[in-house]
Amino acid sequence: MSDSAIENLYSEARVFPPPEEFARQANVSDPAVYEEADEDWQGWWEQHARALRWMRDWDATVEWSPPHVKWFVGGQLNVSDNCLDRHIDEGHGDQVAFHWEGEPGDARDLTYRELRDEVARFANALKGLGVGKGDPVTIYLPMIPELPVAMLACARIGAPHSVIFAGFSSQSVVDRVEDADSHVLITADGAYRKGNVVALKDNADKAMNMTDLIETCVVVGRTGEDVAWTEGRDHWYHELIEGQSPDCPPEPMDAEDVLYILYTSGTTGKPKGIVHTTGGYLTQVAVTHRLVFDLKAESDVYWCAADIGWVTGHSYIVYGPLANRATSVMYEGAPDHPGKDRFWEIVEKYGVSILYTAPTAIRAFMKWGSEHPEAHDLSTLRLLGSVGEPINPEAWMWYHEHIGGGRAPVVDTWWQTETGGIMITPLPGITATKPGSAMTPFPGVKAVVVDEEGKAVPPGGGGYLTLQRPWPGMLRTLWGDDERYQQTYWSRFGPEIYFAGDGAKLDEDGHIWLLGRVDDVMNVSGHRISTTEVESALVDHPLVAEAAVTGRSDPMTGQAIAAFVTLRGDRKGDDALAAELREHVSERIGKIARPANLLFTDDLPKTRSGKIMRRLLKDIAEGRELGDVTTLANADIVSQIEASSKEE
Ligand code: PRX
Repeated sequence: MSDSAIENLYSEARVFPPPEEFARQANVSDPAVYEEADEDWQGWWEQHARALRWMRDWDATVEWSPPHVKWFVGGQLNVSDNCLDRHIDEGHGDQVAFHWEGEPGDARDLTYRELRDEVARFANALKGLGVGKGDPVTIYLPMIPELPVAMLACARIGAPHSVIFAGFSSQSVVDRVEDADSHVLITADGAYRKGNVVALKDNADKAMNMTDLIETCVVVGRTGEDVAWTEGRDHWYHELIEGQSPDCPPEPMDAEDVLYILYTSGTTGKPKGIVHTTGGYLTQVAVTHRLVFDLKAESDVYWCAADIGWVTGHSYIVYGPLANRATSVMYEGAPDHPGKDRFWEIVEKYGVSILYTAPTAIRAFMKWGSEHPEAHDLSTLRLLGSVGEPINPEAWMWYHEHIGGGRAPVVDTWWQTETGGIMITPLPGITATKPGSAMTPFPGVKAVVVDEEGKAVPPGGGGYLTLQRPWPGMLRTLWGDDERYQQTYWSRFGPEIYFAGDGAKLDEDGHIWLLGRVDDVMNVSGHRISTTEVESALVDHPLVAEAAVTGRSDPMTGQAIAAFVTLRGDRKGDDALAAELREHVSERIGKIARPANLLFTDDLPKTRSGKIMRRLLKDIAEGRELGDVTTLANADIVSQIEASSKEE
């Protein structure tokens, strides 16, 4: 047995240096940036904070009393001023901020000036409804322009927002409204999803019947069907902003004032209200967005295909891109509506140059087949990003070849709701990337892979990912529960070391490979094996589109590996292929990792944000009673898998 906390099984020899032409024009192409930032990490972040517009300078760059941090202490600024007015004042009011594309095919362009005016009108309307600085506002909206408008209007008047993904249930709304003690809810009549209408106001009404906290409900008209109405409480958005002045001076906010709360579900217990503040957060999302995506405000068309209901959308659809004066695409709907080429149609229509999406989407595109992207002109794409889960090397290769035309660098970015912004990532003008690796900490970030005792592992070793220096976009606490904050993130290795909850390994060159959540690690005959590596070995087989593995108890080996596999195209699995795939894993990464069982499925159970639910697959593999599955994006698939698992 090795000394590593987690085995290092998968090896990858392919390396993609930045194309010369890309490096020549990149926003950062001198590797000295890493050393400089390391020597003076406070100065590094400070230099980027200076790129923002401050109303008052700060007295101290950072105050670190572990595990609590403050950045740019005493400084004042306003996020909506930085994302909107600053650009208008610099003469860019007519630049498009968002090319918004509705799912049914309607579209709307918003320039920076139009966006600012609408934000200011809605901010005035919110003030008129009695919303003031420090009052948490709950936003439950689909991907329509009014969502960023509402967030920026809150930021303008200093009201922290709490955005709830529109796919969540009324119960989730109640939980979050109560935890945040929020009295205002912004929602819509309905939301389009795969050609259907989701009755959002109905859900909101159900939620408002379960809690009496909400005194004011603002309703955006999107889909146009009848909705129930409570006079005095409910207000139409369009009526509220009509006649409002487009002049609403941005409220000076302390750098450490709360910008937003975003709830993230833990593996156990109630959702955690991640708290992000103003100055440090905006600094980090702006600089990471500019350097990781090599953004050129003048020429790029940037598209982050996430939902704003998740942190990826907060940081890389709204705050980072707007702070950098990006022209972005914002898309309302599903990637396969009306056809499986919808994304590529959008790339072609707007001439998208930078695309940021998730491995789960990339694996779906692989399964659907390369004929869909091939039907469109994707030659404008010059950079591709990935986030949300470990990206299997073969999915990375497919993305690189079929979407990026073999020319666009791929940046695999690791971060979390808690980190606020990107933490581990290639820099596309500098880094020679390896398919499947997030590579290197962003300049100024200190990420260390440690063993059980908290000692740094050497190259070739595996263990736990930690962050050992504060960073500006760091969560400040959990809303209303600082003890849980300390317990969850700062107790495993002491109050100065942030425990990310992810397994990771270093390769021989010291590059970082993420291995999935620590709770998912399997123990086979005393070897700690990451689900990610076995899954990547399966996806490495040309017929496999997606795979999930989990450990199930085994009397001989402690745990045995159970694999669930989705094939590409319409291919059906049989015993011979199952045997071939098990053998493939064995050859690719070793006998110890060969799945004991392998089941073919049409799909895998996923959370609403697209992460594979291994816990559920584990219950199926163990033959256990399944808990509540209603929060899944695709609950039907579970019973299907359960049935075929029993047949086996
Ligand atoms: O397990 C890691 C995985 O997603 C987790 C954070 O999820 P969330 O807070 O929802 O934020 C997602 C968007 C930032 C991490 O703890 N994760 C995210 N990005 C990657 C990743 N795992 C591997 N590689 C990534 N690039």
